[in-house]
Amino acid sequence: MTIEEKAGKTLAQLGIDDEAGVRALFAEVRAALDAEEPLARDADEGALKQLRDRWLGRKSGLLALLGDNWLKGTRQELKPVVGREFNSLHTKAVEIEQLAQHARSVKKAVAAYRARHVDLTLPGYQRELGSIHPVTRVQREIEDIFLGLGFHIETGPEIESVYNNFDALNIPESHPSRDDWDTLYIDSRTLLRTHTSPVQIRAMRKYGAPLYIITPGKCYRNENPDATHSAMFHQIEGLAVDTEITFADLKGTLDYFAKQFFGERTRTRFQPSFFPFTEPSGEMAATCSACDGKGCRVCKESGWIELLGCGMVHPEVLRHGGIDPDRYSGWAFGLGIDRFAMIKYGVGEIQHFFQSDVRFLRQF
Ligand code: FA5
Repeated sequence: MTIEEKAGKTLAQLGIDDEAGVRALFAEVRAALDAEEPLARDADEGALKQLRDRWLGRKSGLLALLGDNWLKGTRQELKPVVGREFNSLHTKAVEIEQLAQHARSVKKAVAAYRARHVDLTLPGYQRELGSIHPVTRVQREIEDIFLGLGFHIETGPEIESVYNNFDALNIPESHPSRDDWDTLYIDSRTLLRTHTSPVQIRAMRKYGAPLYIITPGKCYRNENPDATHSAMFHQIEGLAVDTEITFADLKGTLDYFAKQFFGERTRTRFQPSFFPFTEPSGEMAATCSACDGKGCRVCKESGWIELLGCGMVHPEVLRHGGIDPDRYSGWAFGLGIDRFAMIKYGVGEIQHFFQSDVRFLRQF
């Protein structure tokens, strides 16, 4: 017989007529009630309702039935023991209900707290610390050297006018170097800049002379990627405009820069070259820092590494910048930051810098 069935009968109907029988019967009910306690502890809405309905329901709850059938209808002599057992059972049932209620409100409060606050009891996230990208690192090193010489950093837009990128730099529409410096055209008057040289024009117009600037930034070219060429790469431009600036200033400054960057033992070499925006133009090479100029795999046994293009600013360019070439002269250079990073860190493939492979980047 279930407890529910027993609760529907009187003690006489159950054949109980002494104290021991009463106690044994209540012990059975108490065991059923105690079994509800763990459930009550992590009570959710459903469990709490079930507990109330089964034990404390006004009409058909077990306690109501026991009150009617076992307490009221029992013999006078057994009433004290039945009363004591009944009260103890009732107290316990109310206790369990309170427990369930408490458990439910704690649960609710925790959920509300979690929704609004960081749970400080959870272990913290461990984020791996990154490091400075090697190209950025080299860019900053170059910047530091020129900042130390009194140059300022000036930047320009990557989406540039065709005029600033070419015309103002003495490269008219018919000039063949527009083919070498092919790029993505946004429209007939706007392109992705092919070098940082257009910042020369912007800065000259903005500040006039005297002017000592370096201009780091991204450049774009229609280029088939290979070990040393990328369609997007980084350049840094240097420009000095003042009265009585000569090629000796250019050589002295760039030689100092190479020694600072690659080491005191570095020697530099200048060879004639051509750029439409400088006259005369040159290319500077430095002794290979891997073999100290003796010749090795890095410098292809030549002992020298080509570093940058440079020259005296063409009078036409000064004019486009709004500076009088009869009063002022200037020198400029442009170098590839990624190529410098390749030389500095012995990286044989420029694409490594742009593939975001942490196995590569972790080395810096
Ligand atoms: C120029 O872009 C000139 N504006 C430099 C200059 C400035 C000369 C001022 C005189 C006065 P060039 O095309 O050679 O020059 O590029 C300069 C450097 O940019 C190269 O030496 C190389 O290091 C880098 N570079 C050029 N194209 C790429 C490419 N596709 N990928 C990676 N680096 C490149």
